[in-house]
Amino acid sequence: MRICVYPGSFDPFTLGHLDVLKKAITLFDKVYVSVLNNSAKNPVFTVEERVRMIEQIVESEGLENVKPSSFGGLLVDYVDRVGAGYIIRGLRAITDFEYEFQIDAMNSRMNPSVNTVYFMAKPEHSFLSSSMIREIASFNADLKGLVPDCTIDFVAERLRKK
Ligand code: PNS
Repeated sequence: MRICVYPGSFDPFTLGHLDVLKKAITLFDKVYVSVLNNSAKNPVFTVEERVRMIEQIVESEGLENVKPSSFGGLLVDYVDRVGAGYIIRGLRAITDFEYEFQIDAMNSRMNPSVNTVYFMAKPEHSFLSSSMIREIASFNADLKGLVPDCTIDFVAERLRKK
């Protein structure tokens, strides 16, 4: 059984993340979508909120063999714990490459048996990032077409400047 982990901050999960997840499903029998539990990153949404949103997205999209989860500590240790051999990461523009290159180099050094597979989001989502969503949502911008429909209201309500 081919198992992979799609890790990230997902603060919040965007349509670009969903593109990558849908591509991963075509190659793997089981995909863990795993939220990093690290308060040092100062996330806006709690781990529980992010996992819950991913659960709602998985359900409303009817995605099978996807398991929303969270993890702390080293990613390669978590990948081992769930019996996965692969990490999934998304690549947008060339600017992502250096960051991903460093993560991959470090992960490979710590556990050479874990490989990373990269997918690109659809071109129309290549500009999307969670940080941009947080920024524009704080000014009440419309999130339609940027985050999955079933999470729009929750994301907008939480990020709107009071
Ligand atoms: O969505 P992000 O914030 O770019 O995801 C980064 C993530 C979660 C993949 C990375 O921070 C991570 O794996 N953190 C866990 C700690 C770890 O294993 N660090 C070594 C590789 S950087």
